[in-house]
Amino acid sequence: MPSDYAHFNRTLRHLGDAVRAKVIARDDVLAYAQDVTNRYLEGTMQARALGKKYGYSGDFEIIEAIYTVQIAQEPHLRRWDLYFHSQAAPNAVRNRKAYFHQLLHSHSAGQTKAPLSVLNLASGPARDVRDVREWVLDNPDREVFFDCVDAEIHAIERARKLCAPFAKRVEFYHRNVLRFLPAKGYELVWSAGLFDYLTDRTFVYLLKALMAVTKRGGEVVVGNFSEHNPSRDYMELLGDWVLQHRTQDHLRELALEAGAAADSIEVMWEPEGVNLFLHIRR
Ligand SMILES: C[S@@+](CC[C@H](N)C(=O)[O-])C[C@H]1O[C@@H](n2cnc3c(N)ncnc32)[C@H](O)[C@@H]1O
Repeated sequence: MPSDYAHFNRTLRHLGDAVRAKVIARDDVLAYAQDVTNRYLEGTMQARALGKKYGYSGDFEIIEAIYTVQIAQEPHLRRWDLYFHSQAAPNAVRNRKAYFHQLLHSHSAGQTKAPLSVLNLASGPARDVRDVREWVLDNPDREVFFDCVDAEIHAIERARKLCAPFAKRVEFYHRNVLRFLPAKGYELVWSAGLFDYLTDRTFVYLLKALMAVTKRGGEVVVGNFSEHNPSRDYMELLGDWVLQHRTQDHLRELALEAGAAADSIEVMWEPEGVNLFLHIRR
């Protein structure tokens, strides 16, 4: 029940501290979580996250289930899902969409009426693009075109279906972004939920490539979970969902390493303060 959440969160924090102090092995906690989840929580968000249907954490299905706040019907499972969705990390994921829409807004605010080209990397279910419908209706004068790239064919298929009302405005590429980027120039390059899976080295390599496909006056914006993630112990210990959490300073350093000018870099965040966004102006 919601009245239990604070107590449960504190317990998870103690468990995390015990793992960090090496009093308990992380693998033992995970084995326990797996056992309890298999036995009692089938079909919940917890089970789906831990199940890694496509072989890794954060696939398009789980991300879509977070965006659409999917909740099991059975009363006892329902409570687990309500708890899952109440946490800071799923809120931060849902907040990405409004953040993206705000970006589109600011990029279309100028005098020019030229079409706006947007690259969306690791687009997953492309909910951010699909739900842009209202923005498009509010901004009929400014045409916007999206290129979406994702390495998971099922994500591409799902996103294509979701974006069908926008078929003329969205192009999908089933590719690994580390090996391929569309050879075009973009006003806005956006990637959420990808860079926090990358090592620093790969982060810098990909960021360089993104800066190279961004037009003069355009912007690269990449999301990365912050070290202030109250859901981290839940994610790592009960969900085996491990991210590269980074600080604002760390993101700034990586941007400098990728060749960004110091005065072109800014780090912002969504209202939960969990998902940071590194902005680089070109
Ligand atoms: C956590 S989801 C983020 C989805 C979406 N950007 C969002 O915020 O809702 C991560 C996505 O990255 C994709 N992905 C992971 N590594 C990739 C790579 N090297 N190239 C392209 N896509 C990748 C996965 O298939 C998955 O759809």
